[in-house]
Amino acid sequence: MYTPYPENMMESVKKVEATRKERMSSEPRRLTADEKDALLKEFHPDYNPNAFAEIKVGPNKGEKAPLELAKLLHSTSRILKEDIDLTKIDYDVDVLVIGGGGAGASCAIEAHNAGANVMMVTKLRIGDANTMMAEGGIQAADKENDSPVQHYLDAFGGGHFAARPELVKRLVMEAPDAIKWLNDLGVMFDKDEEGRMVTTHGGGTSRKRMHACKDYSGAEIMRTVRDEVLNRKIPVVEFTAAVELIKDEKGQAAGAVLQNMETGDYLVARAKTVVIATGGAGRMHYQGFPTSNHYGATADGLIIGYRAGAPLLYQDSIQYHPTGAVYPSQILGALVTEKVRSVGAQLVNAEGEAYIHPLETRDVNASGVIRECREGRGVDIPGGQKGVWLDTPIIELLGGEGTIEKRIPAMFRMYMNYGIDMRKVPILIYPTLHYQNGGLEIDGEGFTKTIPNLLVAGEAAGGIHGRNRLMGNSLLDVIVFGRNAGKKAAVKAKDVELGQMNLDHIKAYAEELNAADVHTHDVSPLLLPKYARHER
Ligand code: FUM
Repeated sequence: MYTPYPENMMESVKKVEATRKERMSSEPRRLTADEKDALLKEFHPDYNPNAFAEIKVGPNKGEKAPLELAKLLHSTSRILKEDIDLTKIDYDVDVLVIGGGGAGASCAIEAHNAGANVMMVTKLRIGDANTMMAEGGIQAADKENDSPVQHYLDAFGGGHFAARPELVKRLVMEAPDAIKWLNDLGVMFDKDEEGRMVTTHGGGTSRKRMHACKDYSGAEIMRTVRDEVLNRKIPVVEFTAAVELIKDEKGQAAGAVLQNMETGDYLVARAKTVVIATGGAGRMHYQGFPTSNHYGATADGLIIGYRAGAPLLYQDSIQYHPTGAVYPSQILGALVTEKVRSVGAQLVNAEGEAYIHPLETRDVNASGVIRECREGRGVDIPGGQKGVWLDTPIIELLGGEGTIEKRIPAMFRMYMNYGIDMRKVPILIYPTLHYQNGGLEIDGEGFTKTIPNLLVAGEAAGGIHGRNRLMGNSLLDVIVFGRNAGKKAAVKAKDVELGQMNLDHIKAYAEELNAADVHTHDVSPLLLPKYARHER
């Protein structure tokens, strides 16, 4: 007999197997709006009152943020006491793109297309980003039975009607062109024999509009846009972090103070327009959650933008992906793509009950997993963790033998590395910190509302998804808003007259902290997670 799990877990597997046949023909019903609200309020981590603190300074003063983010917002600038010579300019460009992920790369390509002198700077390497980690796919309403309006309704409703309409409109209207752009650049999307894109559902989608590259979608997209940046010979300054923005005497964004991550040396980049594309915050491990995020996801862009005076939006809204790996411990928090459920897997508790529809929106499904575990219907895992089953063998029964290896090979490989054959046994999952729904507030054109010539794209931007994002709308926003930022930044750069550069906002922020009686020895942006080894 095949027994990859400890005995107690195998006992529960038997219960999952016992109900599988019946579950094949009857999916759990969808929850009503009231049922969803009640579930979220009781179990979603965003409703945990002990996990948030009031922001004491800056544009969002008086609002709440996760404790860990509030701490960074209340920390001291890394360069407050440094003597940075702003007359010694190391890089002088039209468009400075901060961040080396999908949004930054798409932005740089379009700025370059528009004839701008553009440079990317990234604290790790180009491609070391959440885009690379994305698995399940990218949404676009480009099939006959679908439309951007339908996509809009799904995204807006899924985000609890809190998204900024002008941003959702751009997201969905420019989605089909984003797919075409990627396809033309060489992304190897899954296609059928006739060459048509294969599309599937994600949680909360009313049409099958998820375009994928098996379950390596982000890696394939990042590979392609990174190659394009490098082929165009766009300068990419790697292992160099932007530690503060620079403004000029007119209050415009004028560049950034950079720090070489190896030597610690500071450098000055002057730019007519600046794009923050620094990604997410999963490595802050809000509320102690493991994360599916890239090592560099430490909210840096939020901190430097906020300190310069750009407001945040929905900074208190975090996405916990319902299916993070929870066993074996070596892959704790790793993403088990929603596509596993798109191709048929069901969420099943320790008693073998499919307690919820597998493609409810993410916040709802995450809350459902937490409820099952808290109320004693979770599976006990050695070491004290709990989880529920994602019944994967059912995929092969519904879709035919070979479906798992064909459609979700990355998942298959990840589990086989630990001797778990997901074709034969279910896998154990628990929510993992996946995405920041909010970020720096932008207008419909991608500019911050308070700092001229400063744009934001990708996960660092707030308002595109409201208070919950649907699967596949992040890879999409990275491309749509990345490209848009590149075009807009390039055009804008043509009219910008920079004045004298200064770092006055750093001092002003420190004074505001002082006046608010906030004193700390911590510095921000964090740049690397708390558990990073520092060997300078
Ligand atoms: O489940 C996933 O593959 C994640 C996709 C996303 O966050 O868009």
